[in-house]
Amino acid sequence: DVKAKAESSILKHLNFENEISNSRDFSATIGIDHKTVEDVIKSLHGSEFVIYEVHSEERWKLTKEGEQYAADGSPEFQLFSAVPPQGISKEDLKKKTGAAIFELGSKNAAKNKWINMGNFITRKVESVEDQAKQILLLIKGKVIDEETMKNIKVMKTRNLIELERWNVYSLKKGPKFKVEREKPLGDFTREQLQSGEWKKMELKEYNFNAYPLLPDIGHLHPLLKVREQFSKIFIEMGFEEMPTNNYVESSFWNFDALFQPQQHPARDSHDTFFLEAPSTTKSVPEDYLGKVKTVHEVGGYGSTGYKYAWSREEANKNVLRTHTTAVSARMLYSLAQRSFSPRKYFSIDRVFRNEAVDRTHLAEFHQIEGLICDRGLTLGDLMGVLDAFFARLGISNLTYKATYNPYTSPSMEIYSYHEGLKKLVEIGNSGMFRPEMLRPMGFPEDVNVIAWGLSLERPTMILYGIDNIRDLFGHKVDLGLIKKNPICRLGTDN
Ligand code: PHE
Repeated sequence: DVKAKAESSILKHLNFENEISNSRDFSATIGIDHKTVEDVIKSLHGSEFVIYEVHSEERWKLTKEGEQYAADGSPEFQLFSAVPPQGISKEDLKKKTGAAIFELGSKNAAKNKWINMGNFITRKVESVEDQAKQILLLIKGKVIDEETMKNIKVMKTRNLIELERWNVYSLKKGPKFKVEREKPLGDFTREQLQSGEWKKMELKEYNFNAYPLLPDIGHLHPLLKVREQFSKIFIEMGFEEMPTNNYVESSFWNFDALFQPQQHPARDSHDTFFLEAPSTTKSVPEDYLGKVKTVHEVGGYGSTGYKYAWSREEANKNVLRTHTTAVSARMLYSLAQRSFSPRKYFSIDRVFRNEAVDRTHLAEFHQIEGLICDRGLTLGDLMGVLDAFFARLGISNLTYKATYNPYTSPSMEIYSYHEGLKKLVEIGNSGMFRPEMLRPMGFPEDVNVIAWGLSLERPTMILYGIDNIRDLFGHKVDLGLIKKNPICRLGTDN
């Protein structure tokens, strides 16, 4: 690059001639602008390759306007030349020269007694000399005699020239002079550190004023943006977030605690990912486990149970959790161990299902789950909370359809009428946790839990207009989508 070229020219010259008396002349001979040469001199001085003395010089330089008049003639001359021998009306002259030249030129031309001003303009003299232009050319050419010096003042007030100052350096070899300078290093390699070579290396000075490059990272995925919006809604409604930081869960918490029988098809390896290592859980609360076994085998709390031989081995098997309701079960169990107080909990995290992948299904997705635990809750409370929750998303007119979950009764799928699709779409699942689930945990008889769940992917795909889930999640996702997706605000038109 130019700097390297300037540096090597300076060092070579000093090597032969021992000095450079005028950096400006030198920069002209090597054909590199003085600003660059000046930078290189300062840098060479910093590493003691050269020493310098500096003095400043100055000269008059034409401004942009000055340059223009030096080329095209001064405004007064342009104006005079536009006046024909027989004269011209003011309007026509203005049209001919343009308003700017007319304004500037007519004043000076009248002052110089070149023209008669009025509504009809005539020449006073036959021909004129463009002195202003000549002065400008003289100043530009640097041959400034005494006569010109007088004119400088005039040109200065007309803003046609300006004073330019610059530093001129005279250089000699410095104490560390060499014909070539190793580029100071910014980094060490591992090898240079190990061999001790770094001690002999010249290091770049720290530049504390330099701005760092903005790293092209840190973009939020649409799922994260929508998740943030959902957490906000829950938090505004007074819900606490449950700890979801365990993808691996025992079958016990994922199924048994939820009164899901061990022969249930969801517990088949076709639907659930079982872990090979560690294949079983370390511990389950024994006392509680006994109660869960009993409720499965013979029932209790008004239930007849499933009437099968419950297997501990089956319950011990580790799985990738198939729903965040496993987390809810753990939270409710620990809540039931304390003296009762009502709670509102939510979670949003990943779950896994051994499913055939297609444009709307992946083997992993995210669930949003909310639950309220209090005395005397009813189905009416659940419907009221769902109305309030979905209203905050901008979704109203919910309808429900009875469904089946092993752990809830009653259970309801949640539907909403989709204006675009002109049909009801399923937006979630909900229910009241069964006594077979809550009572073994130790909750008093009058405590109920209402709960609901939905996927994070479905609303995200709708909000971002994505119709194939593989465009949203997984290895086929376009990074451009991650970098450029718009911010998300839910239900703001409500
Ligand atoms: N766990 C249910 C699912 O995986 C969702 C749900 C949560 C249903 C809470 C009822 C109550 O679909």
